[in-house]
Amino acid sequence: MKILLFGKGGQLGWELQRSLAPLGEVVALDADSQDLCGDFTNLPGLAQAVRVVQPDVIVNAAAHTAVDKAESEPDLVRMINALAPSVLAEEAKKLGAWLVHYSTDYVFDGSGDQSWREEDRTAPLSVYGRTKRDGENLIALTDCKHLILRTSWVYAARGGNFAKTMLRLAGEREQLKIINDQIGAPTGAELLADVSAHAIRMVQARPELGGLYHCTAAGQTNWYEYARLVFELARKAGRELKLGEVLPISTNEYPTPAQRPLNSRLCCAKLEAAFGLRLPDWRVGVTRMLNEIL
Ligand SMILES: NC(=O)c1ccc[n+]([C@@H]2O[C@H](COP(=O)([O-])OP(=O)(O)OC[C@H]3O[C@@H](n4cnc5c(N)ncnc54)[C@H](OP(=O)(O)O)[C@@H]3O)[C@@H](O)[C@H]2O)c1
Repeated sequence: MKILLFGKGGQLGWELQRSLAPLGEVVALDADSQDLCGDFTNLPGLAQAVRVVQPDVIVNAAAHTAVDKAESEPDLVRMINALAPSVLAEEAKKLGAWLVHYSTDYVFDGSGDQSWREEDRTAPLSVYGRTKRDGENLIALTDCKHLILRTSWVYAARGGNFAKTMLRLAGEREQLKIINDQIGAPTGAELLADVSAHAIRMVQARPELGGLYHCTAAGQTNWYEYARLVFELARKAGRELKLGEVLPISTNEYPTPAQRPLNSRLCCAKLEAAFGLRLPDWRVGVTRMLNEIL
C-alpha cells in the first residue's frame, strides 16, 4: 500500500508517520517539502503531488488550527481547511484512492449537554469551525472513498497544546484562572493515529465502512479539571511549580476572538461499533504524555 501523508510535522502528522509505517510505503510532506508540494496554499501543486505519487491512500493531517488567529485571516483558513482538502478529494476520486481527513468538535454550536452524534446539525461558531465543516462537506461532495474523523482537544508530546501551556504558566505564575464550563475530551494524537491506521486497514477489505466518524478519548472533563490533573501529575513527577491558586472561571470571563462551543462532547459509539474498538479514558493518554515530557 502506498500512502501520501500531508502535514507530517504537526501533532497528529508526527504520530501518523509512526502508525502508518507498518502499512506500506509512506511519502510524508509538509508545507516546506521540496521535491513534491505539501503546501496547502498551492492548490495546483497539491494536485500535482497526488498525481506524481499515485497513492492508494491520502492522509491529511495538515490544517490551520490557530482558532483565534483564524478570525482575522478567513480566506487563508478557508484555503487550508476547506479548498485544499477538496482538491485532495477530487484527486483521490480520479485515482480511486482513499482520503483520510480530520475534523473537529468546533463544527457544532455547543448547545445542550448531550454528546453530539455524526448526523447532528452542524452550526459552527468560528471561522475555524466553519472552514472545517466546509472541508467535510466538500470532501463528501466529490464522492471519493473517504474517512473523516472528528476529534477534540488534541495534544501530543511533540508540538504545542493546552497541557504544555499550562505547565509553562504554572512555572511562571502564582495564580491561574481556567475555564470550567467548556466540556470535552482531551484526545491524544497517538490514539488518533493508531485508530487511523486500524481503520485504513479495515476499509481496504470493507469499503462500506467509509464515512464520517467521531473519534475522541472516552470520558469528559473541562479545561479547569484537565489543568488540575496536569499540575497534580507534574508535582508527583517532582516538577517545581510556582503556582499556588487555580481558580475556575466561566467562558464569559475570558473573552477570545473566536467563540468556542461549551458542549464539545462527541459520541464515538459509531466508530467503536464499526471498527471493533474501545476508546480509552482521556486520563490514560494525558498521563502517558506527561510521563513522557516531565
Ligand atoms: N489541535 C486540536 O486541538 C484539534 C482539535 C480538533 C480537531 N483537530 C484537527 O486534527 C487535525 C490535526 O491537528 P493537529 O493538532 O495535529 O494540528 P497541528 O499540530 O497544528 O498541525 C497542523 C499541521 O498543518 C500544517 N500546516 C499549516 N498550514 C499549512 C499549509 N499552508 N500547508 C501545509 N501544511 C500546513 C502545520 O504546519 P506548521 O506548524 O508549519 O504551520 C502543522 O504541521 C486537524 O485537522 C485539526 O483541525 C485538532
